[in-house]
Amino acid sequence: MSTIPRDKLPESTLALFRDGYEFIGKRCKRLGSDVFQTRLMLQKTVCMRGPEAAQVFYDQRYFQRKGGAPLRLRKTLFGQGGVQGMDGEAHRHRKAMFMSLMSSESIARLVRLMSDEWRAALPGWAEKGRVVLLDAARDILCRAVCAWTGVPLKESEVRKRTQDFAAMIEDSGAIGPRHWKGRLSRKRAEGWIGGVIEAVRAGRLNPPEGSALRTVAFHRELDGELLKTRIAAVELINVLRPTVAVARFITFAALALYEYPDWRRRLARQKDRELELFVQEVRRFYPFFPFVAARVSKPFDWQGYHFPEGARALLDLYGTDHDPRAWDDPETFRPERFLTWDGSPFNFISQGGGDHYENHRCPGEWITIELMKEAVRLLVMSMDYIVPQQDLTVSMTRMPTMPQSGFVIADVRPREVIV
Ligand code: HEM
Repeated sequence: MSTIPRDKLPESTLALFRDGYEFIGKRCKRLGSDVFQTRLMLQKTVCMRGPEAAQVFYDQRYFQRKGGAPLRLRKTLFGQGGVQGMDGEAHRHRKAMFMSLMSSESIARLVRLMSDEWRAALPGWAEKGRVVLLDAARDILCRAVCAWTGVPLKESEVRKRTQDFAAMIEDSGAIGPRHWKGRLSRKRAEGWIGGVIEAVRAGRLNPPEGSALRTVAFHRELDGELLKTRIAAVELINVLRPTVAVARFITFAALALYEYPDWRRRLARQKDRELELFVQEVRRFYPFFPFVAARVSKPFDWQGYHFPEGARALLDLYGTDHDPRAWDDPETFRPERFLTWDGSPFNFISQGGGDHYENHRCPGEWITIELMKEAVRLLVMSMDYIVPQQDLTVSMTRMPTMPQSGFVIADVRPREVIV
């Protein structure tokens, strides 16, 4: 049995910030291996990429999530005590709560809410002249997801709440003052949503049966107890925050419509199948979450290497979505590739891999796809706009990244709807 190849630096944290999304991929290429060991933030870390690595990373016999994610991410992005850090039976039980919210009727309702908000915003965009799509889409999604979950949201609060949800993601990969801003946003959001959960439990607020708010407020753990208020808040925020974050993928979809005008023309023909291919390729092609973290729970051997118990492991999501062994010409934007995609749960993992119920794969994947499809329909069919001169560079070292300008659109004109 050999030891896992080593990155040459004794400590690679700075290199991680320098190479960003390409940190793992570059080193795997250099070392000729799908796995290497390094030190990140003073901890021995095994980095892995590719479909085969994803398959073993999601094998619960060898990896656990408890203690996987660094504390700085738990303090901003995830919150503490939520589903992301759970394992085994307790995880399956908590995950089922999220999955129960994902029926196709329920998702269709969220899509309608977003669509209505978008159409209502259009005249205001027309008046404004210039709109930063990322910000505007976040506001729309925040209103829509609060209505969908049953969380009351006053008009005067929309901006602040939206910014807090965005900051938990935006600032999660940062160090220094931006990291502290992300922590403050989380604290404020947990306080707000904790109050809403208590209002439901006390009968002062009565959200509909099946809504996320009611489901989380009255969810019982395996021991029959309600969730502690703070943890219930973390879990409801686990629905609100990432739904607002779909704005980032919508912004990338708008960028793709601009960069690949042939696709814009094809999508105007209203073919639902083509819309699906396009949205899938946006999720594969553009960078969002770079890696996920876990810990080796039991020593094991894989591909001739020994994985020691307790080592932290990072799986390269972006690198796996761009792995040339799984994807022909992976750096080319080509939605047609999804016509022949094999549907493997381990090669297209922008939102995690494995099984939605059993593993930590994102329960919001269908929501993401449906919201993106509707946003593309709206961009292509319900409005005209121009894309003025701006900086559309997508930095590969900022994590998570976006087009530098946030994608500005101007001269917005709602299209007449012909009934
Ligand atoms: C904006 C697009 C989204 C992206 C890029 C994304 C990405 C991810 C990723 C990478 C994971 C971790 C997978 C793992 O640990 O193996 C994850 C987990 C999760 N996502 Fe998403 N997600 C998105 C949207 C959503 C939406 C819309 C929701 C809820 C409605 C959601 C809720 C969650 C939850 C609760 C988890 C934790 C699941 C678990 O630990 O079992 N996400 N997501």
